[in-house]
Amino acid sequence: MPIKGQVQTSAIIKLIILSVIVLVVTLLHFMTPTEPHIYHQLHIIFRKLYFLPPVMAGAWFGLRGALITTLSISILFSLHAFLDWPGNYMEQANQLGELAGFWVVGLVPGYLFDRQKKLLIDVANANEETLIALVSALDLREHNTQMHSRRVREYALLIARQLGIDERRSVNIGFGALLHDVGKIAVPDHILLKQGRLTEDEWKEMRKHPEAGYGIIKKINFLKEAAEIAYTHHERFDGQGYPRGLRGEEIPYGARIFMVADVFDALSSTRSYHTASTYEECTKMIKEESGKHFDSKVVGAFLLIDRKQIEAIQTEYADG
Ligand SMILES: [Fe+2]
Repeated sequence: MPIKGQVQTSAIIKLIILSVIVLVVTLLHFMTPTEPHIYHQLHIIFRKLYFLPPVMAGAWFGLRGALITTLSISILFSLHAFLDWPGNYMEQANQLGELAGFWVVGLVPGYLFDRQKKLLIDVANANEETLIALVSALDLREHNTQMHSRRVREYALLIARQLGIDERRSVNIGFGALLHDVGKIAVPDHILLKQGRLTEDEWKEMRKHPEAGYGIIKKINFLKEAAEIAYTHHERFDGQGYPRGLRGEEIPYGARIFMVADVFDALSSTRSYHTASTYEECTKMIKEESGKHFDSKVVGAFLLIDRKQIEAIQTEYADG
């Protein structure tokens, strides 16, 4: 299911919970008599529960949600106050004070939660922009383009959505795809940029980059899963990869997704040593490696992605 769909489902569940709470509080309030005294005490306790929905709406839906919810409970609450206490102006004044309280506890948290959410989004965007700048510099060094890792991330996100992976995990897989080759910072230029075949010693040096990348980012809390992907991005599903020769599901799911995205981008881009293959040629080669280099489940998901979405990524992040 797409990420947008998951967000909508979660909002609908919250809306249902909120509506049920409003309904239950209203029923308890309306149905508990105000006489005798013991019932009146209960009635007042239930009435105080009206403070709950505005705060919940503010936390879940921000200022707009708090406004709508507080307006709804104000109508329900006032109706009861007028119907149950006709002519009792003191009691009605008391309840008017409570009504004002609902607006305060609804609107203040609603505003604060909106502001907090915006700040968190700003911090997340700043983190992402910093990572992209770092990765663009690395891509430029090796590929003479800034776009390889960004395209790979977008392809990996498409596959993750196709596989129904939740939003939080998809974001982490995206970070892993962006940062997969960060360890190449430790590979000397004469090896990384060498035209032609590497010697055995040079390969040995090159094969250290997954572990070097893991070492660089593993201590950053929000990049823990990305670090695992960097460590395992050259493993193969059949156990023939490096550095640890992991096999099948020993390889983190995110890395198995990344592998298909990375190879597709390598095949479909023009590099110094080959010209770009067509979509059909790329998918044919990927299919041939299903169950060998790649997890067949991931290949299946990749092949189900609408080709137009892939082409849109190629256009947006074209090498220039
Ligand atoms: Fe790599």
